[in-house]
Order: sequence, then structure tokens, then C-alpha cells
Amino acid sequence: MENRDVLQAKSFINNEWVGHSTTNILVVKNKFDQSPLATVSYADPSEVQFAIANSVQAFQSYSKISAAERRDYLLKIREGLFQERDKFINLIVSEGGKPVNYAIQEVERSLLILQSAADEAIRVGGEVVPMDFGLGKGKSAYTKNYPIGPILAISPFNFPLNLAMHKIAPALAVGCPVILKPSPYTPLTALALASLCKRVGLPAGVLNVVVCQNEEASLMLKDERLKMLSFTGSAEVGWKLKSEAGKKKVVLELGGNAAVIVDRTANLDDAAKAIAMGAYNYAGQVCISVQRIYVDAGVFDEFIEKLKTEVGLLKIGNPAEEGVVVGPMIDRVHIDRIDSWIQEAKTKGAQVIFGGSVLDLEHSLYSPTLLTNTTADMKIVAEEAFGPVAIIEKVQYFDEVIREINRSRYGLQAGLFTNQLSQMKYAHENLEVGALIINGVPGFRIDTMPYGGVKDSGFGREGVKYAMAEMLEPRLLVY
Ligand code: SIN
Repeated sequence: MENRDVLQAKSFINNEWVGHSTTNILVVKNKFDQSPLATVSYADPSEVQFAIANSVQAFQSYSKISAAERRDYLLKIREGLFQERDKFINLIVSEGGKPVNYAIQEVERSLLILQSAADEAIRVGGEVVPMDFGLGKGKSAYTKNYPIGPILAISPFNFPLNLAMHKIAPALAVGCPVILKPSPYTPLTALALASLCKRVGLPAGVLNVVVCQNEEASLMLKDERLKMLSFTGSAEVGWKLKSEAGKKKVVLELGGNAAVIVDRTANLDDAAKAIAMGAYNYAGQVCISVQRIYVDAGVFDEFIEKLKTEVGLLKIGNPAEEGVVVGPMIDRVHIDRIDSWIQEAKTKGAQVIFGGSVLDLEHSLYSPTLLTNTTADMKIVAEEAFGPVAIIEKVQYFDEVIREINRSRYGLQAGLFTNQLSQMKYAHENLEVGALIINGVPGFRIDTMPYGGVKDSGFGREGVKYAMAEMLEPRLLVY
């Protein structure tokens, strides 16, 4: 997308900029200094209907091309993204408020997703189904996997490129067009990606990016021609969308209040360093950010001192500045929310170990905060904070901490710092989560691994080949 496109943007449908409204306008701001970056015309109902019809039409041809052609499109997008990586890094920093080092990492991760989707595109196979017995005697059968149809993808602000890519690249690999509704906080990255896809030759309609409000999004949600909803965002919104999605297949990557355990056998220096980063980087605005820290009573005080030291080293400020780890929160509404949750916890008896207040309201900075003496009924413990706040508690027994972690309604990922094999096995068998990371924080993610949660944290899995499996339907042939 050229600069002029960014400044006055529209939705991107059928490989064209589409958006008539001059009154229903989204203003996208720099999240550190609040300066306007662009205006985007919200798509109206007729433009949304156009996007749906266009995706349905694109499915007819795109689902029929060879796997090799789909691989080649993915490789071209990858090459385009590699060439234009600086532009994407700048967009992620400015509209997402993400510290530049993490924005660089995000673009690198998206390159990997594209490469992996290209590799997987030519590996989609089926299964030989044994049936030479009973009524099937003398028969053979196999399944072939077919793309499910056009997909509605809804992506969040916190990884405006990568979490959109986790939907787009697998869909393109299996032959499904995508309508992407990006977060209103960060639509410019998604629009730039759609424009890039056109430049590298992706056929019209295979990726439509529709910037719209909830009422118009609901038209897509309810339209049965779109066969799947792939949503990443909050649990509240995700489960509501699922209940309205009718016959669509639904994959939900939702939030959590991720826990990490530090055992007395752990390397406390490593654990403190990793947990400081894992709780506060990008102001904690990651679904698998460390929110609950449980430390063996024997090393509790020592660990707190180490954690304080590590957090003290984190650079806070302008996300465009090299080395910044904690940047702005996405919106002042969320600063107020975090602040009120901390107040509630204090009223109920929590103690602030550090932080606990706004650092710089003008730049949406909140102090990295650590609370203790918390209870399970406090919002800051029970709900997803999505901010630079964690709680830390002392634990005596390992089975007790596993039970405590499982009391949460969420279950995305957890971390365990230990050198005891028995703890690793016990935690893996008993923790209700999608993944357990040993000697690492719950925020660890490689983009090809299965990623998703249980309980209120979601439904289905992403991670290139796992997302592809969700987008394919086996069709059996018996002969
Ligand atoms: C998320 O916040 O849901 C994704 C985290 C990641 O991809 O690293």
C-alpha cells in the first residue's frame, strides 16, 4: 500500500479499494502519541455483501487450482513481505504500539508461517480406510480432503500481522478464500497485507479485508455462504460469536490468565528474567502473558528480589525506540479498567509489591505491577488482565498449586520452572491447558506448534498444519 492509501484507507475487496462512506469513518491513531495515522471508511452493508459474494465466487476457482500453485502464491507473498518488512514493522509499532524489537519478531514469525504454509500446501493428503470385512468385504476406500469454503477471519490488535497470518496462510494453503475483519485499532497492517497480495498476483477475492462495525460483521457471521469463523480475541466476544454463527464451523483462540510455577529446584535467575519479560513485554497485551506466578515457599522471598531486579531493568516508553520492552496500552479505556481492577484487589486485601499506578497517561503507559496476598475472587486473578499486571503467591505443595491453577475458567498455556521430572509429568497430566512449557513462560510460542486452549480459552487449534486441518473436510470414496 502506498502512503496515500494508508492516509485515506478503505476496505480491500476484489483487489480494489472499496468504501463509499465519508461520514462513517474510523480514525486510526498512533498508540504512543495519539497522532492520527489514517482514516478508514467503514464498509456499509452493501459493501459487506459484495465481499461475501466475491469470496464465494473466488472459492469456485481458487479451490480448484493445484497445490503447487497455492504453494507458489504463498511463496510470492512471503517474498513480498520480506521485501516490504520495514513498512510492516513501522505499521505494527505505530498503530499497535508494539515495541520495535517485538514488531521485528512479529514480521519474522509471519515469514515463517508463510514458508510453513507453502510447505504444507503440497502435503495435504487423505487416508486409506480399511473396510475389507463385514459388509465392506472386497471394497477399498480412501478420503481426500476438500477445502471447507470461504472463511470469515476476525483478528485482534495485539499481533495485527501474525494473528491474521495464522488464519490467512493456512486458508490459502488449502484453497479457501478469506474475508478478514481486522481489529479497528490496527486495520492498516491488514490492509497493507491485502494490497501486497494483489501486487504479487494473488487472484481477486482470495483475500478481502473488510473494515466494518459489529452490525455489518454480523451480516458475515450469519451468512451461510461463509463456512467457517476463525476468531482470535476475548472470551466474551468469542463465545458470543460462536452462539450466533449458525452452521459455520468455529475455531476460537481466546484469552487466558496464564500461570507459571517456580519450584525450589529451578534456576531462579533464569526464571526471574523470563518471567519479567513474559509478564510485562508489550505491556502484557498477549493472550499467554504471565498473569499468575506461584512460587515454592522455600524460595519465595529470594525469587521476589530477583524478579524486582529484572523488572527494574525493563525499558519503558516509546515503542519506536530501540530496546523498549514495555510500551503503551492500546486504549485509555483499558488503562482505566486495569486501574480499577487493581483498586478492587487492594480493597479486598491485596498488597502492591511494585507498580500499581499510571506512569504517563499522555502516552498510555502503565507501571509494571506485581500484587500479592490476592484471592481467587479478585478480577485481577480471575479474569484476563491483558495489561502489565501479575500476581505472585507462595505455595507449599505441588498438587495444591495445580488445583489452584485449574480453578480458573481459562486454560490456554502454562509454564513450569523445575528440575524435577516428576513435577513435569504430574503437571502435564493434571493441568487443564492447551500447552505446558517447561523451564519457560506460558508466552512461548513457535508458529508451527498446535496452539489453542481449553475451557473458556477456546475451541480448536491453530499453528499452520493444525489450522489447515480445521479448514479441510474429508470426503470418502468407496469402490
Ligand atoms: C496471542 O496473544 O493470542 C498470541 C500470542 C503469540 O502468538 O505469541
